[in-house]
Amino acid sequence: MKTIIANWKMNVGVRESVALARGTLLTLRGRKHIPELVICPPFVALSEVRKIVARSAAALGAQNVFWAESGSYTGEVSARMLEELGVTHVIIGHSERRQFLSETDEMVNKKTYHALASGLTPIVCVGEGRAERRAGTAQEVVGEQLKRALSGVRLRASDHLLIAYEPVWAIGTGEPASVSEMLPMHAFIRSLVQELLGPHGASQTRVLYGGSVNGENAYAFLREEEVDGVLVGSASVKINQFKDIVHAACEVLEAQTL
Ligand code: 13P
Repeated sequence: MKTIIANWKMNVGVRESVALARGTLLTLRGRKHIPELVICPPFVALSEVRKIVARSAAALGAQNVFWAESGSYTGEVSARMLEELGVTHVIIGHSERRQFLSETDEMVNKKTYHALASGLTPIVCVGEGRAERRAGTAQEVVGEQLKRALSGVRLRASDHLLIAYEPVWAIGTGEPASVSEMLPMHAFIRSLVQELLGPHGASQTRVLYGGSVNGENAYAFLREEEVDGVLVGSASVKINQFKDIVHAACEVLEAQTL
């Protein structure tokens, strides 16, 4: 299976989200073998987008969650509130939140723990910066982020975990990692997950790539067995681009059934 996640970030309001959700679902039409599709609109559009995805093959994701169930946390949203809106997935620790909102590995850990305990599937984002890649410390940095994010985490039989490898230098730059750059990192993440969560946990964990994925390069990532899917930012709000990404996944899945 391949998973395609659309992270609309803060790029669309409620009305645009509704139109975009409709367009996004149309990309699946007429295809026999379709990827798992997760649409992550801004919080304010979740309930409207829910109405559109409700009777479809797509799932609804949020872009963030807080780690407490309720209480005096102005501006925050709990997993229970998200579930009430039909949300099944949540992005945690995106590099934009780490950069602009000082989100730490410890916060990522608490959010991951809370999301899993509430039955949500976390999409935990990890990735090194440009200087770290240049210095040759990318694996060290990603390994540390992952160890901290998953500290104390155990997956129950019904849990799923998605890890998105998103090199910060590839996000929003139009400069994706090359397949030969990202594949070793995926293998590294997989072996670390095996170590941290055991064989059962590893079998319930999928590793996705994110960073300047578009209609032209998606197939090259998705055809790799190591790549369980892609997390898409800017191209997910451009329906023609996103259609090509979804169709690339369909082609890979169709080829697997031949
Ligand atoms: P871009 O696809 O715009 O590079 O963003 C990637 C991303 O941050 C997805 O979460």
